[in-house]
This record gives sequence, structure tokens and C-alpha cells, in this order.
Amino acid sequence: MPVLGALSVTLEVPTLDDGVSFYVDAGLEVSIDGAIAQCRCHGQTRNSIVLIGGARRKRLHHIALRADQLGDIARRVAGAGGAVVETPTGFEDRGLWVRDPHGMLYHLVEQLPEPELAWAPVFEINAPGRLMRRSRSAMLPGAAYAAVRPLRLGHVLVFSPDVMSSVNFVTEALGMGLADRAQDVIAFCCARKDSDHHVVAFAKSPGIGFHHASFQVATPDEVGRGGRRLLEKAKRGDWGFGRHTIGSNFFHYIQDPWGSWFEYYSDMDHIDDYARWTPSNYTMADSLANWGPAVPHDFVHNYEVPGTAEF
Ligand SMILES: [Fe+2]
Repeated sequence: MPVLGALSVTLEVPTLDDGVSFYVDAGLEVSIDGAIAQCRCHGQTRNSIVLIGGARRKRLHHIALRADQLGDIARRVAGAGGAVVETPTGFEDRGLWVRDPHGMLYHLVEQLPEPELAWAPVFEINAPGRLMRRSRSAMLPGAAYAAVRPLRLGHVLVFSPDVMSSVNFVTEALGMGLADRAQDVIAFCCARKDSDHHVVAFAKSPGIGFHHASFQVATPDEVGRGGRRLLEKAKRGDWGFGRHTIGSNFFHYIQDPWGSWFEYYSDMDHIDDYARWTPSNYTMADSLANWGPAVPHDFVHNYEVPGTAEF
């Protein structure tokens, strides 16, 4: 059952300062060691975002996924059009490093999962014929709420020049499942047991690159509250508050210092057993959102493609 979940994204960036401020404002804990910044969720022992300073422009270095049966993956990689590669200089010499047919780098690591998240309060809604909450307010004054802290990295969306061949690689070589897609433009892949609706997703672009990392928060309120606060601090683009059709999650995306995105999400579909899940192929009308504000003009622009204008 090879890929089990998302671990981290590693980005090469021009300078660390902007990224450190951004992820601190987003609610992550950041430690800096020389030219490397490591960003993790409060209470977790693993990094979720790693920034390497000194690049000319932002570039996805690799994504790391928790997996098992690494020997089986290694044997399937070439047949799916990829390659097992040497550990890149300066990186952890453990697990398995592979490139997909487009040159995108994955690091597959066998390690224990993080402890289960604590139970969150039930998100109560008074609906017609079904009153959940009587004689008390749902909301406190805004100032009563602490800053939102992401609970865990849930998924990563990357660009691909051929979405369905990227899907073929992660399903055939890495043992993931295609959860849903919208034509050959965007596709969402899950682990085969006990998985968020998507762990890795692909959007069509002339080249590979990083689009967004998505962090779970406790409630839809925290999506809205966290997104608004990060937007006020980052002072760049945003998209949200809204709800996706594919995966069903509430979302708010805030643009990072390099034109890619940070997503807060809540209430995503869960796939217990991929053998009992039927993927859908949605129209483009449902590819991005079920409802929400207008999509920013550069929401699916890949600033990593050589020759494109820089952010
Ligand atoms: Fe997302």
C-alpha cells in the first residue's frame, strides 16, 4: 500500500526572509539553520515546508511522501516512465528518491505517522427542522479567538505538462489512486487506505512547478478567520472563502511571496478504501470551485516555467 500521505514540500527560493515571515503569519513554527528554513505545524515533529535560500527564482525542489514497500515502488518506477535517482547532494540519504517522466522529484520515506489529531468541537449548524444550538450564540467577538494554527499538511498541488501521465506515474509506480479529475486539466490522487480525498494533485501547465500546499484547520470558521488574517499580513492575492466541488472542502487560498499559494482547508471528503471509491470526471465548470469569489487571473499560472514573467 505504498504512498500513505503527504510529508513536506521543499522549495528553492531567492531569500528566506519573505518566506519565513509568510509562514509564521500563516501559523507555522519556523526554525532557521543557515540558508534553510524549516516550517512545521505546532505539535508535530516533522517539517511541512522547507525553504532553501539563494535561488535565482522560486522553484519546486521535491515533495516528500510517507510510504511503505519502497522496494516494490523502486521496481515499478522505470515501467511507469520514471527513474530511481541518487540522493541529491545535501539531502537525507534514506528512503527512495525518484523522478517522474517530467523530471519532478519525489522523496518517499518510511516513517511512523504523526499522532492522531485531537478531536475538534462539532461544527453545529441550525438548519430547517433541525436545531442544534438553542439559547446561545455560535460566535464570540472576533478578538476572543486566538490566531489560527494549521493542524497538518494535507495535500500538495503541482503543475504538470501532461496531467494524465503524472497520474499514471503516481498510480502505477507509487501505488496511489485517482480520486477524481476534470478532463485532462486537473486531477486529484489519494492514498488507497484511510486517505484525504487528495494527497497529491496535478494541474496542467507548460512545465512542472509548485502550485500550493494545503493545511487542515479545525472548522470552516478557522478557514475564514485564518485566511482573512493571513491576507491582511501578506498583502498579496487571495481566493476564497469558497467550497470545492472536487473533494468538498471549504478553502481560502493566500498567495505566497513567489506567486504560488497557501491553502487553509476544512471538511474534506475521506476515502476509507479506494477499492470502494468510484472516480468522477467533472466538467471544467466544477474543476475549481462549487462556489466562491471570482478566481484570480493568475491562480493557475506557473511562475516556474522558464521564460515566463516573474511574479
Ligand atoms: Fe488544495
